[in-house]
Amino acid sequence: MLVKNLLPAFVAIGSAAAQSGTCSISGGTTTINNPAEATGLANCRTVRGSVVIGRSAGPSIDLSGPSEITGDLKVADNGIIETLQSSDLATIGGKFQLKNVTKLTSVSMSKLTAAKEIEWDTVTNIESVTLGPVNKVDDIRISITSLRNLDALDLGNVANLKLDNNARLSKFSSNLRTLSKNLVLASNGIGGIGLEVELPNLVWAVELDINNVTTFSVPSLKTVNGSARFGSNFFQSFSAPNLTATSSGDISFIGNAKLTNATFPKLEAIAGGLTIANNTNLDELTGFPKLKSIGGAVLLRGNFESVEMPALDTVRGTFDASSSADISESCKAFDKLAPQNQGGNGVIAGGYDCTSNNTQANEDTDGSTSGNDGSGGSDDKDNGAVGMALNTGLFAIIALAGFAVAL
Ligand SMILES: *[C@@H]1O[C@H](CO)[C@@H](O)[C@H](O)[C@H]1NC(C)=O
Ligand SMILES: *[C@@H]1O[C@H](CO)[C@@H](O)[C@H](O)[C@H]1NC(C)=O
Ligand SMILES: *[C@@H]1O[C@H](CO)[C@@H](O)[C@H](O)[C@H]1NC(C)=O
Ligand SMILES: *[C@@H]1O[C@H](CO)[C@@H](O)[C@H](O)[C@H]1NC(C)=O
Ligand SMILES: *[C@@H]1O[C@H](CO)[C@@H](O)[C@H](O)[C@H]1NC(C)=O
Ligand SMILES: *[C@@H]1O[C@H](CO)[C@@H](O)[C@H](O)[C@H]1NC(C)=O
Ligand SMILES: *[C@@H]1O[C@H](CO)[C@@H](O)[C@H](O)[C@H]1NC(C)=O
Repeated sequence: MLVKNLLPAFVAIGSAAAQSGTCSISGGTTTINNPAEATGLANCRTVRGSVVIGRSAGPSIDLSGPSEITGDLKVADNGIIETLQSSDLATIGGKFQLKNVTKLTSVSMSKLTAAKEIEWDTVTNIESVTLGPVNKVDDIRISITSLRNLDALDLGNVANLKLDNNARLSKFSSNLRTLSKNLVLASNGIGGIGLEVELPNLVWAVELDINNVTTFSVPSLKTVNGSARFGSNFFQSFSAPNLTATSSGDISFIGNAKLTNATFPKLEAIAGGLTIANNTNLDELTGFPKLKSIGGAVLLRGNFESVEMPALDTVRGTFDASSSADISESCKAFDKLAPQNQGGNGVIAGGYDCTSNNTQANEDTDGSTSGNDGSGGSDDKDNGAVGMALNTGLFAIIALAGFAVAL
């Protein structure tokens, strides 16, 4: 954030460039305050340090010349800049930040393929972004922009990707293959309710936090290493056709009002808990034909008429199902799996409860009315998912291993 006094830094760049093509900026950061200072970088091939576009620089800034900035490229709190371009810049070693730049309409850097981090936040008039496309980037956050697509990004493996409050973004289709930290989607599309998501090549992802999307297609997803949470989405159907396991976390599916069908044909193990709640159009929970083991708690709440988990052989936490409809036939099957002290065979290690005709089934967001509090607690102290299921709100938990949507 430190901004060096401009003129000396600027002069330093120029003179260094004349010698070597590599411009080292004393103090690490130079600030560009007007178009002429930007063109002053033209002789540098590499800028060692960060470049900050000052608050009053603009309206057009052309950074052509350097192919690399080893530090950050930042534009923040600038209400003047309208276009930002470079015909040479290929690599940003640090963060490419556009923050609170509300007049910016165009970014054109057709050679830019790599940045450590992209953070675009409050770029409310952006119309056109042309990048290499960028195919090497660790962390991306795009929030409150007017972007209509993300064609400027060609993602393969990323750590974090967060897209939120991008009102014109109606489709996100990406070749993303792996996601080593978090994918967070929320409130994109008109009125926050429009994003279609297609990730045909995504094979594993650590955390998925998916909200307010109209479709979510992950046909190749095999493993969720952490947890997958689906909240307040608008899809009618979900399928995670290739998902076999969550290897350390939960699956949860909460408040997806239109959902009628969720299927996990290959899912065998959920390392954490499974929470399905307040999905008011979901009439059956029968999409888990192979689910054998659940490491945490199971909390099922809704209007469903049947629940089937025919392969279930281990539940380490509590099992608590309650519906506004009559699920007594389903309960009969689960009764047999109850803990031994509740008359079952002990497949379910924690407390067990299964109830019908519960008019409040969709209002119970923390499982506290189950009447089995504590019965599953003692042998599950080491299980985070169980603790969360018992102690915090529904929204903290999640329960359906990978989903793909097929509308
Ligand atoms: C955003 O930038 C404008 C200048 O364009 C400034 O007046 C305003 O205070 C900034 N907003 C925030 C939240 O920093
Ligand atoms: C996630 O799981 C996949 C499949 O088991 C594995 O190849 C990958 O290395 C894991 N990723 C992380 C970050 O643990
Ligand atoms: C599903 O998984 C199988 C077995 O790992 C693999 O051969 C197949 O290609 C996967 N399907 C998709 C669509 O990725
Ligand atoms: C978007 O999702 C969040 C979190 O799941 C939820 O609180 C919010 O109500 C949703 N927005 C809409 C418009 O449904
Ligand atoms: C639910 O979705 C799966 C997979 O998309 C499909 O095979 C099945 O027919 C659907 N079931 C219903 C009742 O729509
Ligand atoms: C649920 O309510 C229906 C309709 O009142 C009734 O026929 C049925 O016996 C009830 N089921 C249970 C398990 O109480
Ligand atoms: C259940 O979902 C509906 C939207 O479908 C929402 O209005 C309501 O607040 C949710 N209830 C709880 C307890 O979260």
